[in-house]
Amino acid sequence: MSEAAPATVTLTDDATGQSIELPVTGGTQGPKVIDIRKLYAQTGMFTYDPGFTSTASCQSQITYIDGDHGVLLHRGYPIDQLAENSDFMEVCYLLLHGDLPNGEEKLKFEKTITYHTMVHEQLLNFYRGFRRDAHPMAIMVGVVGALSAFYHDSTDIADPTQRMIASHRLIAKMPTLAAMAYKYSMGQPFIYPRNDLTYAENFLHMCFAVPAEPYRVSPTVARAMDRILILHADHEQNASTSTVRLAGSSGANPFACIAAGIASLWGPAHGGANEAVLKMLAEIGHVDNIPAFVARAKDKDDPFRLMGFGHRVYKNFDPRAKVMKQSCHEVLGELGMQDPLLDVAMELERIALEDEYFIEKKLYPNVDFYSGIILKAMGFPTSMFTVLFALARTVGWVAQWNEMIEDPEQKIGRPRQLYQGSDSRDFVPVHKR
Ligand code: SDX
Repeated sequence: MSEAAPATVTLTDDATGQSIELPVTGGTQGPKVIDIRKLYAQTGMFTYDPGFTSTASCQSQITYIDGDHGVLLHRGYPIDQLAENSDFMEVCYLLLHGDLPNGEEKLKFEKTITYHTMVHEQLLNFYRGFRRDAHPMAIMVGVVGALSAFYHDSTDIADPTQRMIASHRLIAKMPTLAAMAYKYSMGQPFIYPRNDLTYAENFLHMCFAVPAEPYRVSPTVARAMDRILILHADHEQNASTSTVRLAGSSGANPFACIAAGIASLWGPAHGGANEAVLKMLAEIGHVDNIPAFVARAKDKDDPFRLMGFGHRVYKNFDPRAKVMKQSCHEVLGELGMQDPLLDVAMELERIALEDEYFIEKKLYPNVDFYSGIILKAMGFPTSMFTVLFALARTVGWVAQWNEMIEDPEQKIGRPRQLYQGSDSRDFVPVHKR
């Protein structure tokens, strides 16, 4: 039986009548791609796609998102099933290695991560260079970048073993560094990691324990923290992951690449939205004020946006937001806490989801809309919310970084442009200007 002809699309330049055929490739799920790698050589033209709204930057097997149906799969497993039945260490193994670990693999992985949680004692000096009121994300960009100066034994990125050691170190040390950033801002002594605690318990202990007395980690809070880490672990080619891939494509030090990812995540349009949501809810203050803020969000002349709403990919509910909303009620209920901001959030969600503007633009609550309320209930200041996002997303960044390096089609990322500047002109000496 004859092979099906390879799929192609034909592009015709009406100005010249020239036509070219471009290959079309399909994946296991989701939109097909038009392979334009030969476009410039054959036409002398680039594609133009600011913000990459229609551009696939790579092939990947890690995470699949279907924005129209609110689907998020990690190596094929739906996020709600992982959040309900798995734990963050299993999800880390899944993202890094492609499948869930068996019992023996899980224990070995957990032990490997546990025995990398301490940081070099000299790293403590980096914190003391910051003002006490420095934003914890500024500290994280600095100290994670500084890690690149401490591990010259695992930066030959061509060596898979060294890549995995660097990946384990980053996953293991992020909670320690994040907790130290929090302690430094509080003026409290750093708390060292403990090997008898789980990943989430260890992080909470390093954040909230003090040397003066024993600290008991609440199982409810630890379970909620573990679930929040799962929900933020990876998300396809978002801005910060694309930053890590682009930085890594030059062969840069992996710790420096993750620092670049942290910098990108900090933006309020990305991971900084969880902090911005809490500030917005506090600014709204009461359900009676919601209509005025929704009107501002719809006003083209007003730069105000409803933080925690909208997404480049999800044009339906963000499946993570659904799980986060359920956890929000569980955690506040089990902690016996009331938060008027939760009432404002729920009423804001109800009003926005009934509003024509949000329906027409398909703006739904995203992962950041409810996370801040849970983190606030756990005792974290809003300035720490994006740090927790970075902590969780580190496994996604390192998994995508490894995949990029292992990709035989990988080369240094170097986009082009549509030039709109001056034509060539001669220099004019200053006395003639
Ligand atoms: C994350 O990419 C990822 O996967 C990210 C993330 C991850 O896990 O890595 O999911 C995490 O970053 C979630 C998003 C968190 N950000 C916010 O909540 C900030 C508020 N949301 C937006 O700024 C916005 O929705 C973005 C940035 C999330 C998406 O922006 P897009 O895809 O570039 O869409 P757009 O800005 O072009 O908006 C489309 C329209 C615009 O109106 P028109 O120009 O068509 O008239 O919708 C409007 C926007 O004005 N709009 C909003 C809005 N978001 C978009 N209007 C009011 N409030 C909002 N929140």
